[in-house]
Order: sequence, then structure tokens, then C-alpha cells
Amino acid sequence: MSIIVKNRLFTLNTANSTYQFTADAYGILRHLYYGTRVDNTDFSYLVQQRDRGFSGNPADAGDDRTLSFDTLPLEYPVYGCGDYRESCLAVTHPDGSRALDLRFEDYSVFQGKPELAGLPASIADLKTESLQVRLRDLVSGLSVCLTYAVFAEKDVIARSVRIENHGEKPITLDRVLSCCLDFFQPAARDMMLFYGRHAGERNVQRSAILHGKLRAESTRGASSLHYNPATIVCTHDTTETTGEAYAAVLVYSGSFLISAELDQISQTRLVVGIQPENFAWRLEPGESFTAPEVLLAYSAEGLGCLSRRLHAFIDAHIIHGAWAGRRRPVLLNSWEAAYFDYDDEKLLQIAQSAAELGVELFVLDDGWFGKRNGDTSSLGDWYGNENKFKCGLPGLCRKINALGLDFGIWIEPEMISMDSELYRAHPDWMLAAPGRPPIKSRCQYVLDLSRGEIVDDLFEQFSALLSSCNISYVKWDMNRSLADLWSAALPAARQGELLHRYMLGVYALLQRLTEAFPNILWETCSGGGGRFDAGMLYYSPQIWCSDNTDPIARLAIQRGTSYIYPPSCVGAHVSASPNHQTGRETALALRAAVAASGAFGYELDPAKLSAEEKQEVVAQIQDYKRNWQLYAYGTLYRLESMRGQAWLRVAADKKRAILTYVQEGADANAPAQYLKLQGLDPMQTYHVLPSGQMLSGAALLHGGLPLPELRGNYPLVQRILEAT
Ligand code: GLA
Repeated sequence: MSIIVKNRLFTLNTANSTYQFTADAYGILRHLYYGTRVDNTDFSYLVQQRDRGFSGNPADAGDDRTLSFDTLPLEYPVYGCGDYRESCLAVTHPDGSRALDLRFEDYSVFQGKPELAGLPASIADLKTESLQVRLRDLVSGLSVCLTYAVFAEKDVIARSVRIENHGEKPITLDRVLSCCLDFFQPAARDMMLFYGRHAGERNVQRSAILHGKLRAESTRGASSLHYNPATIVCTHDTTETTGEAYAAVLVYSGSFLISAELDQISQTRLVVGIQPENFAWRLEPGESFTAPEVLLAYSAEGLGCLSRRLHAFIDAHIIHGAWAGRRRPVLLNSWEAAYFDYDDEKLLQIAQSAAELGVELFVLDDGWFGKRNGDTSSLGDWYGNENKFKCGLPGLCRKINALGLDFGIWIEPEMISMDSELYRAHPDWMLAAPGRPPIKSRCQYVLDLSRGEIVDDLFEQFSALLSSCNISYVKWDMNRSLADLWSAALPAARQGELLHRYMLGVYALLQRLTEAFPNILWETCSGGGGRFDAGMLYYSPQIWCSDNTDPIARLAIQRGTSYIYPPSCVGAHVSASPNHQTGRETALALRAAVAASGAFGYELDPAKLSAEEKQEVVAQIQDYKRNWQLYAYGTLYRLESMRGQAWLRVAADKKRAILTYVQEGADANAPAQYLKLQGLDPMQTYHVLPSGQMLSGAALLHGGLPLPELRGNYPLVQRILEAT
């Protein structure tokens, strides 16, 4: 049993963690504990209640001036009850009042977990147990159902929230966040957030949570390049291998808010959910609203262990469908090989040389549809560009297949160009505020996917396309932020629903297409990694990590990504040198070593490679095919290193491992370097290849592996370790 309920004390146990809260004598849901597993303990004794000036008391507290929503650790804080910290729920009642006071009503415990209407969410297995706790507002007919799904073996708890209107009049939901974590014991804590920009995603910022709010958020209608919808809160002294760390990962791809604050008495509050700005949802009597899921994970052994727990969980419970756990085909993507400048002959030449090297899948990127020859036209016209393909798209697909390659294609379903047949037929389908010309971004506009008829039309168009020939892979792109938030289909009072309804439309289209074409491998993308989130991973087992394919830039991007997301889903390609984004020159071996993730491929014209380089690529692809289990699904250890980046991937049985080290500079007369490995079996002896040393796991863990003297630009060291 992972869920224990005793006298309104709720304890959720995973293999290594305990989460606890209680409904107190007033029915207030108090958070009590989240941390290392502790059995048979009621943590209520930890909460200290004191009279705090200017922190008011609920009416039923009588003369007790110590009971205040403003200071209690809470499971689901609301606005309008005297809690002045960031809340999860705020509403406007039909009379304009905004007060709320949620109290415990009942609970249930059951096997499995409920589906979240229209939203991606973690998938239960036979061992998953859920707790649902219902709270009811003392006055209105509003009730809140909190769900905690416990994945005990994976050390993850998935939280979600449903708001129900049992009253007789509509209520406006002004904010509905999914999760609050109150850390009430004062401590020096840090928040890690993942910030970025186009071609520079998921940089790590670790900063102290001090007074004043620390926020990672998006208001762009997509989870965004700029902040990732996931965070880590850890104690100030937490390292890669020691100390406490908590992750909160939002399973959502739209605008979001993550906020951490230190309150007046040095308690830390973290809230996570849908971005309240530009959100207002009218809830009619009898209706409910479901907020997206948040995955919570805890580690007492540092950030590395936390990441590994998230990786194992996402690989097993978010990524699903035919491609989960499988080797992905080695692909060649046409984008950096040809951009918009191609015809069928050129593509076939590229494909032919790719096939000779061992590539398995040819992906035709942007430029194949309507009359598209640049980024100014044709989004919305999802049929082959007749000027480019003499044999039509199906003909091209047949020819690519005849070379022994699978055929994949790029689409950008959510967008429309003004210069398109679709726009001429439906000028009112894009997001645009009445009487104002909409914001143009990359010369394109956004379709109003909150409208069911537009989603239906897109489903028909893409079903026809995907049935028209043997397409086995789709790259679903999304290349701008949303603006002009007004939908012709919503009344004035409901315009605040648009952004979330847009996401529900995107998810509905993804759901329908992935269901209708279950064997297609889907990769999502948004100007690179602009929607790199657990919501998208529910539909597409891989995501294009960044438009920046420079391996040195990728070190930081992929490392940042690895704090939350597993290597299996990271789209990474070997591109040409000098790199098209940075102009930097790097060795082919380095490019392949950095790209060797779960979704490995090439993004260059192989005809331009020298004979030696071609041989090297053949060997790289063979290596990937031999070692894909380790590259994609090996347990990932980020190693400490003084001069560069080192990471180790270890097989589940610890019998094999691959070490990769990239030095980021060159020194003369350099100090000796050692890498202390992790995750190996101390009792095993490992054969280190190609250097040939025989070393015990214990020696590699504690003594470390000496690195050879390294010279030149970005030297690379790779070792395979095999247990003897
Ligand atoms: C985005 C993607 C690229 C490529 C281009 C095509 O930028 O991230 O990989 O597909 O669009 O226009």
C-alpha cells in the first residue's frame, strides 16, 4: 500500500519518499511533509502555530489568533481567505465577490488514476494508486478535487486538480494552478529554472529563493524557448551527488507559471500551473475544469539522482505508443542540407548518399508544400509543391523508399500564411483582434485552434496527406508565439479561455492524428526546443532539442535539458562544419559524440563529405546501432569535471557503460585530469576500451579514470567500459 489514510491523515509513500498532509479539526488541508521516506509518523507535530500580526484568522477559529491561512503550510491555497502568498485558485462569484474558503469534504483511494479530460498526463500501470481529496467552499457551490497518483517504484507523485461548480450560477475562474508545495521549515533554498532563447534553450539558472518572487513563466501560448515548464527546488548545499532536491514538472505545453517565494516567516512556497495572466474561465453550473498534471519527484542524493528518477518515469509513464522504448531510426533531415532550395532530383541525390552511409529515414523538412520556396507563403496548403516534384509527393516517397529509406515529412499544422489557399478560403480562421492587423512573426499567423471546426479541417487535411503515401515519420513544428488573443468563436466574456482552449485544440489534433496513424514516429518541435515539455512528450516520443546544432553550444543545451528530460527523447543531429548557426569548426567525431542521444541523426548534405568523412559516418551509424540501448536508455550520470563536460551512460545491469568527455578549451603544460565515475558496480572489473585498462568498479568510482593529455580544439575522449 503506497497510500495510507488514518483519521484524516494522508500519507503517500514511494520507495524513497514520503508525502503527507492532513485535514485538521477545521477541515483545513495542511501540508505536513515531503522528503525522505519515514514510516509510521504523524508529522503534525512539526507545525508551529503562532500569533503573527496582520495575519488574520478564519471566523470559526474563535479566539485562536494563531490559526491563519497566511502562515499555515497548505496543500491547495486559495485567494480571498487571508493568505497573501501566491495562491493556486482565485474566482469571481456571480455577485462580484472573490472570497473562498475551502474545507475538507471527503476522500477516496483507488487503483490506477483518472484520465484528465483532453489533457496529456502520466499513464498508470497496475501498481499505481490514487488518492482523491474533495474540498468544498463554505459558501458557494464550488468544490475542488485534488488527485495524487502515486508511482511508488518510480518515486514520483502526479498531482492534478478538478474544479466543479455545483452552484446555480456561473463562476469565473481567474486562476487555477495545479500544485503548491509549502516548505515550512526555514532553510537556505535554491530554485533552478531553465531559461533560454531561440538557438539557446534551457540554460540553467540556480539562484537563492529570497524574499520577493522568483518566477519562470510563459505568456506566449506555448511553453516556450524562454522558460521551461519545470523547476527544481533544492537546498543551497545540494550538489550533483548529495543533498535534497525536489522537481516539479508541468505536463502542459501552453502558457504557464512557476513561482517560488519566501514568506514573512521564511517559509518557501512553490506553485505551478497554467499562467493566470490572460486566463479567465467561465464555469457554468454543473461544469468542471481540469488543470494539467504536475509530476513531483524528490531525491535525498542530489540532482543526478533526481534527474534519473524523472528520466525513468518519463520513459515509462509519459512516453507511450509504438515507439516507446524502441530504437529510433537513424535519420537524415533535409533542413540544413538544402533549406528551401531543392527539387526532387536534388533530394534523391541527398537520399541516395544518405542510404549508402547507413541512414534509415529520410526527412523532408520545410518547403515541400503549396508553392513554398521561402518562409513567406503556403502554410495551410498541405499538398506537394508541384514545381518541385515532377513525380508528385507520393512519387518522391516511392523513390525514397526504393532506396531502402523510410520517408518522413515536416508539417506546421497550427500556422497559416496570408499567401495561401487556406487564407483565401478562410481569412477569418487566424487569431486576430477585431479591427487590428495581427502581429506577424516569421511572416506567419496562428490558426484559431480553439475552434473545433478548424481542428476538424486540419485533421482531414493531414489524414489525407499521411494516407497519400508511405510516410513513417512526422516532424510537427510550431514557429512563433501567439499574440492577438481574440477568437471569433468566443463571446466577449469568454475570451480569457482562448489560450487554454487553443492548447486543448492542439492536444485534440495530436490525439486524433497519433491515434489514426499509430505507427508513425512523431517528433515535435517549436523553432527547435520551444515546446520541449512533458505535455508534448505524451504525444511525440522525441522533440527537436534546438535549432542550434553546434556541438559545443549543444553541450549546454542538452545538459540543461537532461536535468528533467530523458536522453531517449532528445532530437540531436550531426550537422556540417563550420556550423551554420555559430560558424564554429568542430571535428566530425565530436559532432557525433554530442548528437548520440535517443533520437540521433544527420542534418547535412552527405554528398559534400570527403571519402574519409563518409567512412567515419558509416562507422558512427554502426556504433549507434550497436549501442543505442546505452545512448537512449542508459542511466545517465553527469560527472564532475574541471575543464569540460563529462557524462556516463550505464546499462541497467551495470555490465556496460559509455563515457563521453569534451574539453572546452586547450591548455599548455596542463594539470593532470581525472574523472570519478558513477553508477558502476564496485565489485565488477571493467575493461576500459580502447585504452585497454582493467580496473575495478570501486577504483573507477573512488580513484577515478585518468584522462590522457589533450590538445587542440575541443578534444574528445570516449571510452566503453565492459564488465569482464
Ligand atoms: C524550425 C525548426 C527547424 C526547421 C525550420 C523549417 O526552425 O526548428 O528545424 O524545421 O523550422 O522552417
